[in-house]
Amino acid sequence: MQKLAIQGGTPLHGEVRISGAKNAALPIMCASLLTSDDFQLTNLPDMHDVATMAKLLQYIGVRISSDAQSTHFNGANLDKLEAPYDMVKTMRAAILVLGPLVSRFGEARVSLPGGCAIGSRPVDLHIKGLQAMGAEIHIEHGYIHATAKRLKGARICFDLVSVTGTENLMMAATLADGISILENAAREPEVVDLANCLIAMGAKITGAGSDIIHIEGVEKLHGAAHDVMPDRIESGTFLVAAAAAGGNIMLTHSRADTFDNVLDKLREAGADITVSGSNINLVMHKRPTAINVRTAPYPAFPTDMQAQFMALNTIAQGSSIVVETIFENRFMHVQELRRLGAQIDVEGNTAVITGCDHLEGATVMATDLRASASLVIAGLVAQGETIIDRIYHLDRGYEQLEAKLSALGAQVRRIR
Ligand code: UD1
Repeated sequence: MQKLAIQGGTPLHGEVRISGAKNAALPIMCASLLTSDDFQLTNLPDMHDVATMAKLLQYIGVRISSDAQSTHFNGANLDKLEAPYDMVKTMRAAILVLGPLVSRFGEARVSLPGGCAIGSRPVDLHIKGLQAMGAEIHIEHGYIHATAKRLKGARICFDLVSVTGTENLMMAATLADGISILENAAREPEVVDLANCLIAMGAKITGAGSDIIHIEGVEKLHGAAHDVMPDRIESGTFLVAAAAAGGNIMLTHSRADTFDNVLDKLREAGADITVSGSNINLVMHKRPTAINVRTAPYPAFPTDMQAQFMALNTIAQGSSIVVETIFENRFMHVQELRRLGAQIDVEGNTAVITGCDHLEGATVMATDLRASASLVIAGLVAQGETIIDRIYHLDRGYEQLEAKLSALGAQVRRIR
């Protein structure tokens, strides 16, 4: 199993190019299932989750090829309308093939995702939404089996804001008969990026980015070319790393307007941030100030940045409170941060962090994607060497993390 060895204590300096967003790329790749025409994506990040999604689409029958700039998809001849357990269990986002397949072919079999490290994460909202659109759903042998002659437009009000739930039903509604209205829809920028791609394919969608999305179903979607938006979570992770370790870094190919809330929190922590077009510069030459964080659906503070800010708070001046409202078990990094000397108390969904003046390198274990990122940040500031085990979690969702950190001057190496 591969590990990451980090020698802490070096400030970060230099430029880093931000990759395409994982959470936009995954649903947008599934949009290739909605058309028999050629479909082309640029700025697709090179990471395990994207490779797993490509494998799943190829299993279903999508032809995929890549050149230096773009990835080409063709879903003209699909022969297996299913997502098998082995693929869904490694990546929950595989559920995103369900909506497009039922909508275009009237049938799909998708394995239930089951539990995952950060909580139970059910898919009941995806299922209820498809039922409201007239799909017959049976759960058999651990699989969701959905059938429908043709989905019918419906008004669907989500009990909870769900990002992939909104994306799945928005894709399903593009080819349904009539108008669908998604209420209490997720407003995440990745939902908007998917909607823009679907609109380029001929879908009639308005309201994406607000909590009410209107979709008027069409008979057919055509091919399109789409550039995947920059990754706001990768952007935020590098900025927090530089705010914690100190230094002066410039993100290029990013989009500040997609994570204002995170930038505001970093300013509150004492960082100087300037935005110029797609460049974001962060300068930090002092100890960060502790900041409180409460996660909630967009545009509030993202749960996918919670662990990284927790790492920042461990070495900040003062005490802070971090409240996680989206996932019930997303504090697994706390145990590991404590191994580095962090002072954190947890009560339910609330963590109280007392900033200490230094952390000490130790061996820690990555438990999920963003928890791993928090351990990398802690390792960058800790005195001595930190070894992070099970970094396959990081490889799922960060493109060339250690190469990018090394280019910023961090002392990071992969132990194979
Ligand atoms: C997406 C993101 C993930 C992010 C999360 C929250 C992708 C590929 N992943 O995950 O990185 O952490 O949004 O911003 O975009 N829920 C239900 N029933 C459902 C669906 C969700 O109860 O049918 C609950 C979940 O358990 C969770 C909450 O709703 O408590 C939000 O989850 P959701 O937005 O669906 O997360 P994902 O779309 O899986």
